[in-house]
Amino acid sequence: MATEKWVFMVTAQTPTNIAVIKYWGKRDEVRILPVNDSISVTLDPDHLCTVTTVAVSPAFDRDRMWLNGKEISLSGSRYQNCLREIRSRAGDVEDKEKGVKIGKKDWDKLHLHIASHNNFPTAAGLASSAAGFACLVFSLAKLMNVDEDPSHLSAIARQGSGSACRSLFGGFVKWEMGSKDDGSDSVAVQLADEKHWDDLVIIIAVVSSQQKETSSTSGMRESVETSLLLQHRAKEVVPKRILQMEEAIKNRDFASFTQLTCTDSNQFHAVCLDTSPPIFYMNDTSHRIISLVEKWNRSEGTPQVAYTFDAGPNAVLIARNRKVAVQLLQGLLYYFPPKPDTDMKSYVVGDNSILKEAG
Ligand code: DP6
Repeated sequence: MATEKWVFMVTAQTPTNIAVIKYWGKRDEVRILPVNDSISVTLDPDHLCTVTTVAVSPAFDRDRMWLNGKEISLSGSRYQNCLREIRSRAGDVEDKEKGVKIGKKDWDKLHLHIASHNNFPTAAGLASSAAGFACLVFSLAKLMNVDEDPSHLSAIARQGSGSACRSLFGGFVKWEMGSKDDGSDSVAVQLADEKHWDDLVIIIAVVSSQQKETSSTSGMRESVETSLLLQHRAKEVVPKRILQMEEAIKNRDFASFTQLTCTDSNQFHAVCLDTSPPIFYMNDTSHRIISLVEKWNRSEGTPQVAYTFDAGPNAVLIARNRKVAVQLLQGLLYYFPPKPDTDMKSYVVGDNSILKEAG
């Protein structure tokens, strides 16, 4: 390394992902190993995403991180595990113009500054940690010249937040739970790329942008400890559903896709109710949105919209095409008119500039 001061920086943007077959429950809390496989769809990078800049310089005296402009502690094991795993795979980096060469071993002595920004509410059940850790791992891997494919990087992002491993790929993604104790086979794989089924339009109805009362991490821990339904779901239900969902995605079979997505979301929330004490993530508005979609699908004779809810009341609605998305948005605005004093807001995600951030 040259002695003069220099800074190397990398900026990356990573979208969040929404599970259509949910991850809920860990068999290993430290390595973040799940009790079942899950499948998600990654959103367009321009909409709900995290942008992270990572910088390294001999002028930095310790690792530091800012989230949405506020400094946060990096001392937690999730951050430490990701930083350690990435550092251990760092390669040589050279900038001939600056006359700087960082050798593999130098990375242990150098410190990082990380600035991350979410363009959507943090910890409101919109998978902010998924985009956040995926972006952190990806940008650090670029900065440190880590020579690993996205599946290997996904196993590192997984140690930051389980769902983050799925954001390393676009399109439809499966997180394979794996069977090894060290978690090396608990990785994400791409099932289909973003072009495979690009008729779909995803609308996110933000019912509340308040931080949730029970985090996913503690909620799923309580479910693992107390819910018999979770055991049944993980062993008997999800393995079959994963195969059916893979088929539905492969064949672009919207009827099966909707049936599986809605039932899986409802079972996940049933597990939350089966937890002791019960966890309520959805609220009355969420339930009204479910009724609206169910009635509409029934009246059309064939499903038009799928719904799914994560650990919060916000609805993720997947319309079969743009025409349906426009009708859906009109319906949402009619039945749930946005009031200035509420948080209700819709994000439309997809190839659809007209509808972006309606409401
Ligand atoms: C309901 O990935 O946030 O969104 O691994 O503890 O960080 P940790 O949990 P997290 O859980 C996400 C749960 C979910 C379902 C899903 O995304 O599959």
